[in-house]
Amino acid sequence: MLKPLKIGSLVLQHNVVLAPLAGITNLPFRLLCRQEGASLAFTEMVSVNGLVREGIKTLALLRSSPADRPLGIQLFGDKPVDLAEAARMVEGYGDLLDINMGCPVRKVVGTGAGSALLLEPLKIAAIVRAVRAATNLPLTIKIRSGWHCGDNVFQEVGHIAEAEGCDAITLHPRSRSLMFTGQADWSHLAQMKAALSIPVLGSGDLFTPDDCLRMLHETGCDGIMIARGALGNPWIFRQVQELAQSHHYTPVTTTERATAITHHLNLFIEEKGEAVAVREIKKHIGWYAKGFAGASEIRRAANSAQSTQDILMLTERIRNVANRTDNVSETDAE
Ligand SMILES: Cc1cc2nc3c(=O)[nH]c(=O)nc-3n(C[C@H](O)[C@H](O)[C@H](O)COP(=O)(O)O)c2cc1C
Repeated sequence: MLKPLKIGSLVLQHNVVLAPLAGITNLPFRLLCRQEGASLAFTEMVSVNGLVREGIKTLALLRSSPADRPLGIQLFGDKPVDLAEAARMVEGYGDLLDINMGCPVRKVVGTGAGSALLLEPLKIAAIVRAVRAATNLPLTIKIRSGWHCGDNVFQEVGHIAEAEGCDAITLHPRSRSLMFTGQADWSHLAQMKAALSIPVLGSGDLFTPDDCLRMLHETGCDGIMIARGALGNPWIFRQVQELAQSHHYTPVTTTERATAITHHLNLFIEEKGEAVAVREIKKHIGWYAKGFAGASEIRRAANSAQSTQDILMLTERIRNVANRTDNVSETDAE
């Protein structure tokens, strides 16, 4: 089920990619997920208004490195002219351009961007046309099923995107009104796949390697985007590949969790300095510290960590647990 995926001129080694996640998919997190096997990663969504008005300052959000390839850049905005200008500005920074048409948060939809665009299919056509004319990068859009539950515009939008020159489309099959509640309706993915010739990527409720293969199998979609399932869990990319090849996958050990925290911290320090690194890694420890005895205490302690030293002491505590429990069934895991 895992196979190379062609999006315009870009050929990915396989079809399991890291989704864009605001506040999460910065350079350190992308590098970690790539080391575990993600075939493509996206920047956090970048404001077109910021790019067009503040230029260089916003371009700093696109910081990358040679190991951080191939890179998808995600833009959000609502004006075709501005999106086209932004597309020209970012062309040298990545290998693919995606336009966010799914973000449900008030701050974004209040400006007419994100999932608010699903209320205006004609505007979507104008945006894709303008951006297509502005860049040679492979172009994709990422959408939800519609604004309200039941007003499923995804097929209409899919046809528009294809006709205007999009190279692929990602669907997160929830309405905007559901935000992140309820269950993603994967049947929409199967419908989208049946309706279009361009590749369709699926997003929504991919929390385990089994979920990933099930989505590919049940919907026939061409690729999948892992989002919340990668939080504190970059290993999911390695595990999906293992599962596809050998019908089982190796669980993550507690030692690997401690090592990942240290590695992630060091990547943050290199990128943003110590103060920001400590603040950022605390959030991630909340996700990494799961599935072993004493995990909830580690999460609590992380909240009050002040320095790199404090974080390293926590990883030592996790290693001590690991020495006692790795290779033993994690019976009192939290
Ligand atoms: C914290 C958070 C930030 C997100 N940021 C973005 C974003 O910047 N751009 C985007 O297209 N989707 C964003 N999403 C949506 C995800 O990419 C994904 O489509 C959604 O979470 C459904 O997948 P999941 O159920 O597997 O998490 C975000 C989701 C979360 C939870």
